[in-house]
Amino acid sequence: QKPLTLGIAGLGTVGAGLLELLHTHKARVAERAGRPVEIVGISARSKGKDRGVDTSGIKWFDDPVALAKDASIDAFVELIGGSDGVAKAAVEAALNAGKHVVTANKALVAKHGVKLAKLAEEKGVALNFEAAVAGGIPVIKTLRESLAANEVTRVYGILNGTCNYILSTMTDQHRSFADALREAQDLGYAEADPTYDIGGFDTAHKLAILTSLAFGTELGFDQVDVEGIQSISEVDIEAAQDMGFAIKLLGVATRTEGGIEARVHPAMVPEESAISEVWGATNAVAIDADFCASLLLVGPGAGGRATASAVASDVLDIARGAVMPPLVTPTRGLKPYTKSRLGRH
Ligand code: HSE
Repeated sequence: QKPLTLGIAGLGTVGAGLLELLHTHKARVAERAGRPVEIVGISARSKGKDRGVDTSGIKWFDDPVALAKDASIDAFVELIGGSDGVAKAAVEAALNAGKHVVTANKALVAKHGVKLAKLAEEKGVALNFEAAVAGGIPVIKTLRESLAANEVTRVYGILNGTCNYILSTMTDQHRSFADALREAQDLGYAEADPTYDIGGFDTAHKLAILTSLAFGTELGFDQVDVEGIQSISEVDIEAAQDMGFAIKLLGVATRTEGGIEARVHPAMVPEESAISEVWGATNAVAIDADFCASLLLVGPGAGGRATASAVASDVLDIARGAVMPPLVTPTRGLKPYTKSRLGRH
């Protein structure tokens, strides 16, 4: 069988995790995909860095855009990050060259997803982004495939591992916000600029993607009301605990009569609720749908190995020849956003 050839750009925690996974499960992947998957090109910011993974025999590219359109690759895996700049240029170059694309880049998908999905559709290639939301939790597949015949009324959850790690650590170990953030960074959960995590913007990127898939809205990152966890102190956490609540950063998108309401903010959740027990870098996504009632998906929301697992599932789909529908299904019509009833801006 002819192998599926990959170019991977970005070798941070997720990229290194993907190399490890594809090495460890080489035979399994080939069996499930029906053909071998081979990494033929890689690109990252620094060539010499020791990432603890074997890259011998893989061609190095200084320029990710050159890798994205190189004749040797069938699919381009973008793990660079950032909504614009080189990540966007490389993904566009890959799609224009007729390559399938897999990305873990929530900022890119939240901002340019519809345009990129249209380009992918025009070229007849896949644009897969399971890893962009909630790390290892298969929430994109759940919305695109498993619940495709349902009307979704609400999607909400804990979508940022770093914030949940910080809030959990402050709660059960009484650590300071700064210490907990540093640990989350050391463990490879945080964004390169952790303001995206603690300011709630990373959650908003992910919520915008989920909202678009769940309700058929245009991607409306700018229309999500966002409040982060910067001002949560140990005193707030203790006060909430005394009243029987945990503080969680939630992303919530609801279908209302006036349109879709989407917001991100810290919330007090009762200690007996399943979501209050979601601890550390774990994420949880709850989906209310008309025929399937309520689903709660819980799992690792950040970290190299779990996120690499989601990237690998997207690669497998491509190797098997499964091309998913675009981000927004135009025939369903686009539902407008509405202002949050809570009036947060
Ligand atoms: N910084 C993100 C988080 C990584 O903490 O959830 C996963 O998207």
